[in-house]
Amino acid sequence: MLFKQQAWLRQKLLVLGSLAVGSLLYLVARVGSLDRLQPICPIEGRFGARGQADFPLRALQFKRGLLHEFRKGNSSKEQVRLHDLVQQLPKAIIIGVRKGGTRALLEMLNLHPAVVKASQEIHFFDNDENYAKGIEWYRKKMPFSYPQQITIEKSPAYFITEEVPERIYKMNSSIKLLIIVREPTTRAISDYTQVLEGKERKNKTYYKFEKLAIDPNTCEVNTKYKAVRTSIYTKHLERWLKYFPIEQFHIVDGDRLITEPLPELQLVEKFLNLPPRISQYNLYFNATRGFYCLRFNIIFNKCLAGSKGRIHPEVDPSVITKLRKFFHPFNQKFYQITGRTLNWP
Ligand code: A3P
Repeated sequence: MLFKQQAWLRQKLLVLGSLAVGSLLYLVARVGSLDRLQPICPIEGRFGARGQADFPLRALQFKRGLLHEFRKGNSSKEQVRLHDLVQQLPKAIIIGVRKGGTRALLEMLNLHPAVVKASQEIHFFDNDENYAKGIEWYRKKMPFSYPQQITIEKSPAYFITEEVPERIYKMNSSIKLLIIVREPTTRAISDYTQVLEGKERKNKTYYKFEKLAIDPNTCEVNTKYKAVRTSIYTKHLERWLKYFPIEQFHIVDGDRLITEPLPELQLVEKFLNLPPRISQYNLYFNATRGFYCLRFNIIFNKCLAGSKGRIHPEVDPSVITKLRKFFHPFNQKFYQITGRTLNWP
């Protein structure tokens, strides 16, 4: 009898013990997930000059943590709804330019507590199949956020795709558009480097950059080469200007974002009417990577993936000179239209 009672007691203690350990583990995981997800910047006062409403950071942290749990399947849809999280269409889009630093820009803006990024490139406006799925499909691809926050997505193909300006205009004619550019020849080489890496991965041979960028028959710049065409920024921008006034665009200097990200981010905060919340604390130079990385808080920081910041192949200096000469008049026009001079050679 005594033996039976002892066994029963032991079993009970075991159950209680497991429950306590389980709860403790859950709490640790929860705090961990908050640390990983939360921006460090404190929210004080009101959002922006346009009188957006306050919302408490603690609540936001909790909700983002909750959302994380929800995604992992540990929290119910009802709980998420209870906390007013919504999937909002973007109020700003990074429309390009490919290899301009679009990922770095998105990740860095996401340090701001009022910004929520769509992690994946959605390719809604440039892909006919996706576009045919309708705006609700697009909205459902967006992350959960507070109504006072702004969602930002980036799909660099938007900048060069014919149909996109009209399609975005139809969704929201007052949307804010961010374009991050780099010195056109460097950008073209970066573009080439990415494609080259893909070919090498598949054990395919590929032409040298020089052969693609310069037409061997005419010895002139090959404007049929996509990496060259993409770098003629003014041509693409002119198509966008048929739909949106220049005030709706903000040009980010992608070369400066590499060497001195904070002032570039502060200009974007201003353009988006956000209070300045990204600080030097959030950005630290990582000598091993050779780039600035992101610091969310005392525990969580991250650098961009290794696919960002590839080593470029050496290119014949005469080809570089030729390309720079070719881009020069287009660059002048770009400065003139945008009002931002970038001192490219
Ligand atoms: P490279 O690989 O040529 O160096 P995108 O995200 O639009 O594809 O742009 C990639 C480019 O972002 C990289 O080009 C890199 O130079 C640039 N970049 C800017 N800031 C960066 C950062 N903090 N970490 C890594 N890459 C960054």
